[in-house]
Amino acid sequence: MKSEIKEKIEFLRAELHRHNHNYYVLSTSVISDYEYDMLLKELAELETKYPEFDAPDSPTKRVGSDINKEFSQVRHKYPMLSLGNTYNIGELRDFDGRIRRFLGENADYQYVCELKYDGTAISLNYKNGKLAQAVTRGDGEQGDNVTDNARTIRTIPQDISAFSKDFPAEFEIRGEVLMPRKVFDNLNIERTEAGESPMANPRNAASGALKLQNSAQTAKRKLDAFLYFMMSENLPTNSHYDNLQRAKSWGFKTPDHTRRVNTIDEVFEFINYWDTARKDLEYDIDGIVIKVDDLTLQERLGATGKSPRWAISYKFKAEEACTKLLSVDFQVGRTGAITPVANLEPVQLAGTVVKRASLHNADVMRALDVRIGDSVYVEKGGEIIPKITRIEPSLRTAESVEFQYATHCPECGTELVRSDEEANHYCPNPNCPPQIKGKIEHFVGRKAMDINMGEATVKALFDAGYVKTIADLYDLSREQILKLDGFKEKSAQNLLESLGESKLVPFERVLFGIGIRFVGATVAKNLAKAFKTIDNLANADLETLTHIDEIGERIAQSVIDFFKNEENRIIINRLKSAGLQFEIVETESASDKLKGASIVLSGTFAKHSRDELKAIIERNGGKNVSSVSKSTDYFLAGDKVGPSKFAKVNEFGIKIISEDDLLEMVK
Ligand code: IVH
Repeated sequence: MKSEIKEKIEFLRAELHRHNHNYYVLSTSVISDYEYDMLLKELAELETKYPEFDAPDSPTKRVGSDINKEFSQVRHKYPMLSLGNTYNIGELRDFDGRIRRFLGENADYQYVCELKYDGTAISLNYKNGKLAQAVTRGDGEQGDNVTDNARTIRTIPQDISAFSKDFPAEFEIRGEVLMPRKVFDNLNIERTEAGESPMANPRNAASGALKLQNSAQTAKRKLDAFLYFMMSENLPTNSHYDNLQRAKSWGFKTPDHTRRVNTIDEVFEFINYWDTARKDLEYDIDGIVIKVDDLTLQERLGATGKSPRWAISYKFKAEEACTKLLSVDFQVGRTGAITPVANLEPVQLAGTVVKRASLHNADVMRALDVRIGDSVYVEKGGEIIPKITRIEPSLRTAESVEFQYATHCPECGTELVRSDEEANHYCPNPNCPPQIKGKIEHFVGRKAMDINMGEATVKALFDAGYVKTIADLYDLSREQILKLDGFKEKSAQNLLESLGESKLVPFERVLFGIGIRFVGATVAKNLAKAFKTIDNLANADLETLTHIDEIGERIAQSVIDFFKNEENRIIINRLKSAGLQFEIVETESASDKLKGASIVLSGTFAKHSRDELKAIIERNGGKNVSSVSKSTDYFLAGDKVGPSKFAKVNEFGIKIISEDDLLEMVK
């Protein structure tokens, strides 16, 4: 009996260690937070009941650590505790009951309800109003010193002494660094375009960005921060809520949606409201945090181990569905990267029918231990494609066999390779058909050459043997095009004209289009600006390249490798002969009527696309910025602008203009 318990305890520890590793090292969680908590709870209960099996390295003794060796370590003045989790109303009533019992039936107390931001925790130290140090949570006792990176986050004030004077000489303020969903989506679009694998969710993207070695890179990730907790020997008031209001008046970005309530029933109302309304937020939240407002009561309640007794979180249940895994396809991208994609028995999830889900890479598949025929849970997280979060072991059949990851390219049969630093396998054959088609599709795409040609035409041209490289596109004849299914005189003419027009596409877009690995649209722009011509770029060495904005060693090496390759050089020469733009043409700005004005665009517009409006702003000396701040000059409002946006614009007193107003201004 005892040996069975010991075995169970060891099993739970091993499982929890494995999940910790998945979460903190591989950045993929294969079980939900809820299941993790349940395993942890089961282990803690057994350890309390059977202290003879206690162990100092048990997962119950430590919370996951995000310490990174590259940063210096700082000990927290006050440990950074975590919160106990609850998942249903009953558990919350229990929490309320415990508080009442502890404080006495007649105690008078209020709760503060806050959103639980799904990002990464940060602690900021201010001395005489100036940001002195920013530290990650680490293991709760000590964390990474990420001050330089935190300084790049625009919503973290560097110096509050300009705003007011009534703040304590020394205080610490804690909060969550997060990446807005839109920024996350754009980052992933850019990563995919540059041939990199997408990030799993905004939380990982935020914590990854906060820990980049180069703070200039962090700045590009457009992180945001909400501050929700203040500590000091001289706090301004005795209420958590009021202190946060003070912090707001000192210039901190504190949560907008916080409410102070009198009863647990009002807490439930808050939860019910946000369970639906969270879909409309600009960032992910994964629950609600409930805190006792009065600091004296907080102190009386104290903490148990690693979490306070005066606060708790309520976690929303992610919408998930259980379905059967029918098969796994291995897709080959234009860079040769292999992505496993699950084919599922269609299932209804959050208003859509899900048939496919991403399985990311071999490590993730192994961690999930997923087999064909398994019942699997799919969840829609921050990402567009749903993902498989875990399997249902009780529904696994006896015949199921461990899944074998592909060893050879499903398209051309070449043996796959995988380097140590990469999560994905690659097909190393440059002539692998989906890679060729993918490169052509990328080249003709809207952000690159914008040639009027869809996937089907690319396939037809490739299958007919007319186009094997992007350079072949410019040798196409009318006769060849007319031989393709569905092409008539008029459509062939359109295609030829579109190819002709693409010869005017500016250098930076051509550079993006030729598909150098890791060179996304923004990097291409910077390279074009810095080198002016393709020949300068082709001759640049590693040092020169890494001096350019946003170019690290990895990108620089990839550029060098690209131009070293004889086949690539031939393609570039053929494109040059075809008349494409391989030099930057300096365009004078049309006017300086918007000189220095920073303008935020929002909504949809009647006369121009957003890209056109951005170009108009830039050509007239203005600057298009993505989010509203105190320094925004104009808010260019189209249709369908949300009320919360307008509220913010009004709060900052920003001038609102219409599309017509803008056009009038630059006339
Ligand atoms: S208060 C002692 N408030 O959740 C309480 N935490 O498991 C300290 N979080 O590490 C935390 N939103 O990263 C608090 N409104 C909020 C929060 C919040 C998100 C995170 C934070 C913390 C974790 C607790």
